[in-house]
This record gives sequence, C-alpha cells and structure tokens, in this order.
Amino acid sequence: MARRESYLAAFALLALAADGDNLPPGSGSVSHGREVFDQQCAACHGAKGEGGVGDRLVGGQGTLATSKPVKTVGSYWPYGPTLFDYIRRAMPQNAPQSLSNDDVYAVSAYILDLNGLLPADATLDAKTLSAIKMPNRSMFVGDPRPDVKSPECMTGC
Ligand code: HEC
Repeated sequence: MARRESYLAAFALLALAADGDNLPPGSGSVSHGREVFDQQCAACHGAKGEGGVGDRLVGGQGTLATSKPVKTVGSYWPYGPTLFDYIRRAMPQNAPQSLSNDDVYAVSAYILDLNGLLPADATLDAKTLSAIKMPNRSMFVGDPRPDVKSPECMTGC
C-alpha cells in the first residue's frame, strides 16, 4: 500500500518534472552521492540500494515482463528528473526536504550509477539528468482518453 502511494506520488509529479524544465540549479557527483547515501539513505534502503525498510532502488531491469517483475527506480521509473523531484520532496523519509539541491543531485547520481545508468565519475545537473534515457521510458505512453490529462503533454493541455 505504501509502495502504491509512492508510485502515485511519482506519477503526479511526472507532468511537472518529466522534461526537467523546472529542475533547479546545482550539481552533484556520484562519489559525493555515495557519502550522502551511506549517511542518510542506506539505513532504510540497504548499503547498495537493495532495499530494507524502504523500497529496493536498484536492479530489476529486464524483469518487468516476467512473472516476477522487480520494480525499482532503475527498471520502472520512466524519467530521471522524477527521481530528483521525488527525493527532494519526500526523502529521507525521516527528514524530508532536509537535503540541499546539490545533495539531491549527488544522491540521484549515485542511485543512477548503482543502476548502471551513469558512470562512477559522472556529475549530475539539470541538463545531464534530463538527458538520461531511463530503460523503461518507452514503455510509458500517454493516456488517449479525452478526459484524462496525458503526462506526455507538457503545456496548454
Ligand atoms: C527512515 C527510512 C528511510 C530513509 C532514511 C530513506 N528512505 Fe527512501 N523510502 C523509504 C520508504 C518507507 C519508502 C517507500 C515510501 C512509500 O511507498 O510511500 C521510500 C521510497 C523511496 C524512493 C521511491 C522508490 C520507489 O520505487 O517507489 C526513493 C527513490 C527513495 N526512497 C530514495 C531515498 C533516498 C535518496 C534517501 C536518502 C537521502 C532515502 N530514500 C532515505 C524509507 C526511507
């Protein structure tokens, strides 16, 4: 149930953040993100994002169409900027909105690195985050029903 709420929260943010247009200035490296993660996230999400009290954040690519789909940031989330937005608003769960934008960029970079989506020497900012093609991106399509606002539509819809 808690898991479902987090997805709903993530989807509600898609329309705002998916294209990365409204990402704030700042940047953070994978290596600094590792420090932030060790100190502020690992207790709940596991040392390498394998999960614990908090969701598993790593792996699962290629499992979604199988009988045992593993939904993580790496396998399921369609947009990089959504990761930034979610962490900035909701994490760490015991102290939401306590991280600086630089720290949120850094810890997002580390989670993307753990998922094999960013090299270990990379630095993430608004531009590089928006440019990342998440593995599940092409699996999300706009909802064609006329009474539903499609997340693919960014302005004036
Ligand atoms: C006190 C425990 C705790 C801490 C500390 C914590 N988290 Fe979480 N996190 C959770 C829980 C529980 C959820 C699931 C929330 C829900 O479903 O509403 C979650 C969900 C998430 C998700 C969404 C995962 C998904 O697939 O839905 C991300 C991303 C995330 N956390 C990142 C972080 C980061 C980055 C940090 C450190 C800055 C952090 N968390 C610190 C407990 C924690």
